[in-house]
Amino acid sequence: MTQVKKRDSWGSRLGIIMAVAGSAVGLGNFLRFPAKAVANGGGAFMIPYFVSLFLLGIPLMWIEWTLGRYGGGFEHGTAPGIFHSVWQKNRFIKYFGVIGIFGPLVIFIYYTYIESWTLAYSFFALLGKYSKLNSQLAMQSFLSGFQGLEKNQYFHGLGPAYLFFLLTFTLNIWVIYYGIKAGIEKLCKWAMPLLFIFGLILMFRVITLAAPDLTKPAWNITNGFGFFWNPDFSALKSAKVWLEAAGQIFFTLSVGIGVILTYASYLSKGDDVVLSGLTAASTNEVAEVILGGSIIIPAAFVFFGPQEIQAIAKSGVFNLGFVTMPLVLNKLPLSALLGFFWFFLLFLAGITSSVSLAQPAVAFLEDEFDISRKKAVLIFGAVSFILCHAAVLFLKNGVVDELDFWGGTFFLVLFATIETILFAWVFGMEQAWDEIHKGADMRVPVVYKFIIKYITPLFLFFILGMWFWQEWLPIILMKNVTQANYIYILSTRLGLLAIFFILALLVKIAWRRKKRQWEQIS
Ligand code: ALA
Repeated sequence: MTQVKKRDSWGSRLGIIMAVAGSAVGLGNFLRFPAKAVANGGGAFMIPYFVSLFLLGIPLMWIEWTLGRYGGGFEHGTAPGIFHSVWQKNRFIKYFGVIGIFGPLVIFIYYTYIESWTLAYSFFALLGKYSKLNSQLAMQSFLSGFQGLEKNQYFHGLGPAYLFFLLTFTLNIWVIYYGIKAGIEKLCKWAMPLLFIFGLILMFRVITLAAPDLTKPAWNITNGFGFFWNPDFSALKSAKVWLEAAGQIFFTLSVGIGVILTYASYLSKGDDVVLSGLTAASTNEVAEVILGGSIIIPAAFVFFGPQEIQAIAKSGVFNLGFVTMPLVLNKLPLSALLGFFWFFLLFLAGITSSVSLAQPAVAFLEDEFDISRKKAVLIFGAVSFILCHAAVLFLKNGVVDELDFWGGTFFLVLFATIETILFAWVFGMEQAWDEIHKGADMRVPVVYKFIIKYITPLFLFFILGMWFWQEWLPIILMKNVTQANYIYILSTRLGLLAIFFILALLVKIAWRRKKRQWEQIS
């Protein structure tokens, strides 16, 4: 007789809320959000942002929590098994579920590397390694040297970055090795409050900044906030602004990736998902809109003024976080400590997200191949360690951007569309509505029955269509790839294709194995 293995579970309700919020609150909240908001109409960006939150983000959050808990009842913690439980008659649906393991794995490959920079910079801040640098150029050169993009007076090679990558990677594996309750939940329970404390300290420091140059009184914090929040309503006429807002909602809430499905699969049948899902989403929004919106851009405005801030805001997410922000903090008293707060906040935001990205692959091996957690983590560790080198070694060749496009953009929207159709149309809205409310501590407003069935899928199809024309087609056709990077991008795509097929093959093998086991029992 086959022995039924007991799946891991959450220790408390607070634990899973912290873990989902931990997955959601990430580098996206503090770097990506301010950059996107400023580039897309400032305060006006918040209109499409909140429309997307209510029509896409929150419904998808509820869909994923509900589907995850439902699949967990069949001992499935990842999308192939969860989708199959919902649509048992369909032989192919499990292969669509492969995206729910593939996507997070692909994001994990580069996310962990970027996360390791934040750990490195936390040490650099405390040790005063960049404290003497006071121009954008010098700080930029420090970053390029560290990333191994150039050899300069600050760094002679990739050694230090690699060391911090090893440390960060090991920490991630260590956390998931201990499992859901003793690893991920424990980490998120102390990391999340600490992250908020650091965020609040930095926010109050920024709010209380005095104009540094008496000859330029307009360079003050009120105008800094004004620069960030004053709406440019003409931006709302651009489809791109709406698409950017929707994309930000996906990325920041970690929906459409597959990680929330996996986390929710460790719930019990009668556990609430409505209030818990809403609480996790709200926590993320506070971290993003209140903290993320109050730190980097207003502070940079005060020191660099209304002209330069335009260029800074457009200079990209990495420049904002690793060049502009340390420069700003260098100008303040206790700069080493404030620098540490900033980078360690990013590190905590990063690690609580990256462990969630690792978990689907681990859960897949455990649930579908009956492998012990420790063995599954070791297999995941070995495979992902090799894969991460694509990001570490070929950053300069555009490989990280390429991985981010497929893992962090394209498949997210596709996966969310499949999930929504399955939930609202295959499972059926009546059954889905009952399932959402099992053990619920609050009722979902009834208008969401209509939204989940019609509006969310239509919105998703609209995004898929628009993005396909406007942005994806040139990318898919490799129109923007330089001759020098061509081979790297092509190899990345072939590598991704290979990973996808291997995962699909594993799904096939797992289902055959289970079928044989059932035949032996009956
Ligand atoms: N949700 C995570 C972030 O915002 C991935 O970084």
